[in-house]
Parts: sequence; structure tokens; C-alpha cells
Amino acid sequence: MDSARADRPTGTRLWHPFADMAAVASTGELVIERGDGAYLVDEAGRRYLDASAGLWYCNVGHGRHELAEAAARQMSTLASYSAFGDLATRPALDLAERLCALAPMADARVFLTSGGSDSVDTAVKLVRRYWAEQGEPGRSVIVTREHAYHGMHLAGTSLAGIEANRAGHGDLDPAVAAVPWADAGALEALLEQRADVAAFFCEPIIGAGGVYAPPPGYLERVRAACERHGVLFVADEVICGYGRAGAMFASDRWSLDPDILLTAKGITSGYIPLGAVIVSGRVADPFWTPGPEPVMWRHGYTYSAHATACAVANANLDIVDREMLVARVDVLQHALGAALTTLAAYDAVSEVRAGVGLLAAVDYTPEAKSAGLPSRVLAGLRDRGVLTRNLASGALQVSPPFVIEDTDIAVLAAAISESLADAGATRPALPPSGLLPDITRDEGIESYDDRHYLEQRPPHHG
Ligand SMILES: Cc1ncc(COP(=O)(O)O)c(C=O)c1O
Repeated sequence: MDSARADRPTGTRLWHPFADMAAVASTGELVIERGDGAYLVDEAGRRYLDASAGLWYCNVGHGRHELAEAAARQMSTLASYSAFGDLATRPALDLAERLCALAPMADARVFLTSGGSDSVDTAVKLVRRYWAEQGEPGRSVIVTREHAYHGMHLAGTSLAGIEANRAGHGDLDPAVAAVPWADAGALEALLEQRADVAAFFCEPIIGAGGVYAPPPGYLERVRAACERHGVLFVADEVICGYGRAGAMFASDRWSLDPDILLTAKGITSGYIPLGAVIVSGRVADPFWTPGPEPVMWRHGYTYSAHATACAVANANLDIVDREMLVARVDVLQHALGAALTTLAAYDAVSEVRAGVGLLAAVDYTPEAKSAGLPSRVLAGLRDRGVLTRNLASGALQVSPPFVIEDTDIAVLAAAISESLADAGATRPALPPSGLLPDITRDEGIESYDDRHYLEQRPPHHG
């Protein structure tokens, strides 16, 4: 064996996304084996509350047999087939109909992808091609925001408002301009100055960049500015879509009427990869209306409109509908906000951003961050049976499955509080200890019991 090979860390052959592989290979992996509702169990039998819904996706919770059955049914009929040209499968057609009926814009059409980054790439190409079809090929600049996360393909990396995600990847797309995340006036000024802007890409609630809900009036103002200047408004709802923002789409919550809506994650609750680009009639028209020359958009993926993924999406949306999970988020967002805001009393906590949608961040002071507190809190949470992660900024992500119970939210807040205290944070008066029940004992996961949940679901809230 040569010396380079002898020095190589051992233990895993899996190159993990967003990982320091030298550290992972030397400290080992946490191997998650199964899940049920808002809970997970690792290979050693330890139980965890899933405080992040995987990567913001497992909205209907883990262990849903009906999604596995939908996949098995479709796979044993026809796993998938090309959707290029005039080919289609029934689950893809059904899903397209369904998404257009749900879409917060008029006369929608759906382009299916394999995930959020595909959806972002598709939209960047689509808006530029749209303007070329309109005879304005010079409109190519995409405007993005500070803190933005638009996935990891090259287009999305170019749009990254998280600087660390751009660094070290060479020359990215030069036709990108950035504005501050909460300053509608900055976008208005930019659009006054430039006639080469194709589209504004906007996460209604910024997710991976730190969980920032829009300041009052911000989204309405930027939407109106785009309208005034004829710039396409692209709502990136890869996280917000399908209920997480407390409405089916954040675009519904803030009446955004987007030109293009990007989704993924919650469309299947992560049971199988799928993304959807929902396009308004206005943007679709040049591609769909017969003209003197045929317009063929040379774009698409092998797994665009994958039949099994579409079948799972349809079954997942059935669950969201039947169990009124969007209305449930509307209620839970307040419970989560109330439980987490108490953590702001800690000296190490700079801000708790919570209460709008079922997503939140507990952020730390610069001193706490440079003293390494965020990773100690995360480790403390893992020891207490709560699994989540720190975002690029160091803030703690909280975005549980929609089936989380109020008691779980209390457990989660208590676990963060205890982990903060253990990590050296202090606050004026700590609550009595012993609040935290032992959730780390695996009492055996039963299959997810819909009846139990249905008895507990909240009343419908509009
Ligand atoms: C707003 C947003 N857009 C795009 C993406 C990329 O999605 P994916 O990781 O499925 O490619 C993400 C992923 O977290 C996201 O949060």
C-alpha cells in the first residue's frame, strides 16, 4: 500500500453532501434506520425527534405506508417512461392537473424536475428563453437576495446569497445582481436603473440562509416593482410550498401571483425525489401558442415527469388534503413560535426567528459563535434525542414535520434550553429541571396510525 493510501481516513466510502469528510471519516456516521411520524430511530435503537423534517421536506411525517404502496403499485405497473415529445404517463398528467388547480396564478402549466436545484436551473433558462422569444434577448440578468439559497446546480450557486456557497467554484454566471434581503427600495432602485433584468428570484420566507420571514409589506412592494418594470417574479417555494408557510403556497399567503413558482421537497414529502416548476399562462404562452415557426424548448431531464415520483406526489397530496395539514401548520406555527421565543432570554441567543410558518431559527451572538457554542448545542440536542442541524450562519434550524404534536414542541424547546445551558449559555432564571421526558428510548415503532392522528387534528382554519 502506498503512503497516500495508508494515510487515507477509513470508515466510510460515502462522500456526504455539505460535509467535512476528514472529520466524518474519523468520527463516524450517525446511521438513521427508520422513522414514524415526527420520530426517527438510528441503527443502535436510539430514538430522535426529527426537528428539521430531514432537509425541510418530510411534511407528512415518516413511515407512511400508503406512500410506499403508491410507489410499489406504480413500479409494478410501469416504473417510468420518457416524457419527451408527446409521451406521457397517467400519474404525471394527473399531477400536472392537480398542481395547476392548486397554483396561485392563472392558467398554469407544470414542468416536472427531479428536485429543487433542477427547478431553479429550469427557471433561469426559462426566463431567459422567454425574453428571447419576446424579442428582448438582452434581458438576461437574474436578481437574487442576500441570504438566498437557490440550490446547488451552477445556476443556483450563482444566485447564492450565502457567500460561502459560492466561494471556490471558479467563474459563475456573471448575469446576476444581488440586493439586500429586506430592502424593497433597493430592488426598486435597481429596476429603475437597469433594463436588462429578466427576473427576480425570491424565497418568500428565506430558509437555508437563516429563516427570515419577510418584513411587513416587503413582498407586496417587490412584487409590484417587478410588475411595473415587466420583470418576471419567480417565487422559490422549494421550502415554503405545500403548506410549510401556513398556506398551500407562501404566494397564497401574501397574494403574490408569481410568474413562476418553484417547488420540490414537500411535493412528495421527500419519499422520492421530485420537483415542479409551475408556470403562469403569460410565461408559457410563447411556448404553447402556435406561430409561424415551431418553438421547441430544448430542455428536460431523464427523470422529468417520472411516473413513480408523480404517483407518490399524488398520494402525498392526498394525505395533506385529507388530514388538513396546511390548516394544522397554521395553528402549529404559533405554538412553535411561542415555545421557541422563550429561548431569546439566553445571553448567547441573539434572535429567535419563529412564528411565521412551521420553520424557525435560533440564532446566536457573534461571541457565542466564535466560542463554538452552536456545535455544542447541536451535540447536546443529539444526546437528548433531538436531531437537527446548524445553518451556514450557525443558527439552529427548526422545521419539524407537520404531524408534530404540541407535546413534542414542548420537548423540543426544553431540549434546546437544556442544551444551551449545558453549552455554557445563561439566562436570568432557569425553569425547574426535569421538564424533559426521556424520548430517546425506542419503545418500538408501530406503523403510523392515521386514526390516532385524525382524532387529534385541529379544526379547519380557512
Ligand atoms: C429555496 C430553495 N431552493 C432550492 C433548493 C434546492 O433544492 P434541492 O436540494 O432539492 O436541489 C433548496 C434546498 O434546500 C431551497 O431551500
